[in-house]
Amino acid sequence: MISLPLDDLDATDRLAAALARTAETGLCILLSGPLGAGKSELARSFVRAWLGDPDTEVPSPTFTLVQPYDGPRGTIWHCDLYRLGDPGEVEELGLSEAFADAVVLVEWPDRLGTALPVDRLELTLEICHGSDRRIAHLTPHGRWTGRLDEIETGTLPGE
Ligand SMILES: Nc1ncnc2c1ncn2[C@@H]1O[C@H](COP(=O)(O)OP(=O)(O)OP(=O)(O)O)[C@@H](O)[C@H]1O
Ligand SMILES: [Mg+2]
Repeated sequence: MISLPLDDLDATDRLAAALARTAETGLCILLSGPLGAGKSELARSFVRAWLGDPDTEVPSPTFTLVQPYDGPRGTIWHCDLYRLGDPGEVEELGLSEAFADAVVLVEWPDRLGTALPVDRLELTLEICHGSDRRIAHLTPHGRWTGRLDEIETGTLPGE
């Protein structure tokens, strides 16, 4: 696991952009952390970077649970499973296919149960109380392994 300080929203945005550069279809990111930790902010920045379009609207898929976007590097799904009833609904949402064919960002991945995709990056955002500071904890699995080198050495663009 690597841990990175994110001093402000801008730092979260830069981490998302760096992850989007190294990501490819078939890889997913499981975004954990408490309410207001910044999961949706990170996902929004990631989607825009993946699409190469800073103006794309990225609303929280609170009620649809999933929101796909098509881009030049492939399809990306933004999922918020907070309201998922039971893990069986994952099939109905088409998530299994998406895990294979798209980049998938999942908020509240604990709702997936135990059937986690192999090629996943577990990213947990920790809130430092009373400030904009966050700490990102990243644990790569499967094809994510070895992809965080650039991020680990602190060469995030804009720093
Ligand atoms: N360093 C930071 N990184 C991310 N967000 C930050 C940071 N500092 C402040 N914020 C603010 O914290 C809030 C994070 O909200 P966001 O909706 O992304 O949280 P969330 O983890 O998705 O919550 P939920 O579980 O309700 O979906 C935003 O208002 C954002 O501006
Ligand atoms: Mg959210």
